[in-house]
Amino acid sequence: MNNTIRPAALVTGGATRLGLAFANSLAQAGYDVALHYNGSAAAADLAVKNIESLGVACTTFQADLSEPNPGELINNVLESYPNLTVLINSASVYDAATISNTDIGMLQKQFTVNFFAPFLLTQAFAKGCALRPDPSGVVINILDNKVSFQQYSYAAYLLSKKSLAEFTRLAAIEYAPHVRVNAIAPGVILPGSERTSDYLAWRIEGIPLKMQGKADHLLRAMNYLLANEFVTGQILTVDGGEGINHQGLNAEQFNKKEEL
Ligand SMILES: NC(=O)c1ccc[n+]([C@@H]2O[C@H](COP(=O)([O-])OP(=O)(O)OC[C@H]3O[C@@H](n4cnc5c(N)ncnc54)[C@H](OP(=O)(O)O)[C@@H]3O)[C@@H](O)[C@H]2O)c1
Repeated sequence: MNNTIRPAALVTGGATRLGLAFANSLAQAGYDVALHYNGSAAAADLAVKNIESLGVACTTFQADLSEPNPGELINNVLESYPNLTVLINSASVYDAATISNTDIGMLQKQFTVNFFAPFLLTQAFAKGCALRPDPSGVVINILDNKVSFQQYSYAAYLLSKKSLAEFTRLAAIEYAPHVRVNAIAPGVILPGSERTSDYLAWRIEGIPLKMQGKADHLLRAMNYLLANEFVTGQILTVDGGEGINHQGLNAEQFNKKEEL
């Protein structure tokens, strides 16, 4: 079922985990959903059934975003959903390695999926918006709260997300006034299955609000960025304060170092 009246949203990596939460929330808000996936075909089909049951249209679009020309994905989506007004860049790869241990293959993959793809998707999305009588649109890039500090054990991943943070500000200027470009930087929300309960407790200890976030905290951030037409180029960090909790030492603290 296609619909050219309702606005439509494309969510990359929309078949699983946080991407799926973004897609479901957009459907609940009345958007038709273009659900991008790469390998998770069965999960994508299931997501379509759930989303259609909410009374909106949903179509899956398969694309490996590590391949050249991800902008083609937008053209395919526009054929089914000419009223594409929202792009959520959530798909991402997350490989651990220090700079010393990063080879060119890892560097290329992290940057291709996490930075080049959102860059080129935003470019194609904005071009599509400009063709409509109402050219307005919203892009939300999903970053990581670690863009605020230097987790050097994930060097290529982190640099790709830091680049996407800068891109968010740059694109906000270039694509104003019609397309707003913002970002969400999540903290500890949905850790990978490799993370132990000890790890989680240790991370939460460093979070001022002493809690793990939920997908719903990100959805509220997304809804705010979608609704507020006076906000662009912003990074909304949703992390319980973790990203501002990494204090450096300064001269005044030296004489009181026993108290710190
Ligand atoms: N989870 C957290 O707590 C957390 C914390 C900080 C930041 N984030 C950010 O939030 C976003 C979503 O997080 P998540 O944990 O849900 O992510 P995730 O589990 O790592 O999966 C992200 C999605 O990326 C897609 N993907 C991976 N490689 C791809 C490729 N080559 N081409 C196309 N798609 C590809 C996957 O699609 P398929 O499964 O279809 O292959 C998957 O659905 C990411 O940008 C992540 O960096 C998450």
